[in-house]
Amino acid sequence: MPTTPSVAKMNPIQKRAVEMGIDLHALPSHVAIIMDGNGRWAKKNGWQRLLGHREGYKVLRGALLDCSEIGIKYLTVYAFSAENWRRPKDEVDGLMKLIEQAAKDELRTMHKNNVRVNVTGRIEELPSGLRAALEDGIETTSENTGIVFTLAVNYGGRAEIVDAVKDLIAAGFDAEEITEDLISAHLYNPHHPEPDLMIRTAGEMRWSNFLIWQGAYCELWVTPDPWPDFSTGHLLEALKTYQNRTRKFGAVVE
Ligand code: FPP
Repeated sequence: MPTTPSVAKMNPIQKRAVEMGIDLHALPSHVAIIMDGNGRWAKKNGWQRLLGHREGYKVLRGALLDCSEIGIKYLTVYAFSAENWRRPKDEVDGLMKLIEQAAKDELRTMHKNNVRVNVTGRIEELPSGLRAALEDGIETTSENTGIVFTLAVNYGGRAEIVDAVKDLIAAGFDAEEITEDLISAHLYNPHHPEPDLMIRTAGEMRWSNFLIWQGAYCELWVTPDPWPDFSTGHLLEALKTYQNRTRKFGAVVE
């Protein structure tokens, strides 16, 4: 039975969590985030949407550090959905460049912090520069043992299931052999645990095609605040709420 580290050994976010009543041994293993509201945040400030995404990038940097320091093992964030190509070309190009630059600029820090970088989505369809930056991040950090940080880029949950089914057909499976476990084993990251907690900012009560197979039983936590206003306080509130929920996985829990 693991014991809670003594207060002297805790880092500041762990101390703050314990003060709020969060049990550091019952954290979700895998947190997924839908970082919504960058555009609205920018508009409210009279700025272009891309400035909202830039601010969102800064906030993501802090959220990754917080998750890593508190002890979360997997963080997956929705950076660009398979449907986001429908946005104006300027915004799409700007987002591609921003993610590429971020992947390059953050690599050294993430490596130093023992972060293992990973990607989910149809990355073969991304611009070559972005793809190369992501592949470099994955390769460089592949031996790291800290938090697994997965960027969902050109990701769609339905597309992921379609790709899994295509794999199974190509591998020659018969209909009677198809099981849920087999489909799970052919998703993009079959060795990752399923998300336990999904955080969404900017108040929308939607799932938006994010990890729809793996997230079937995850707990949702939604804040009305847009992603650029997301703080350590929001993360801790989400974790506390998560710990107060009873996860039933379809069963009856007395
Ligand atoms: C949704 O807000 C956000 C996105 C589509 C992009 C998320 C990207 C970032 C947080 C920044 C870059 C990420 C990395 C990895 C560097 P929205 O534009 O839909 O906001 P709105 O609903 O208010 O219009």
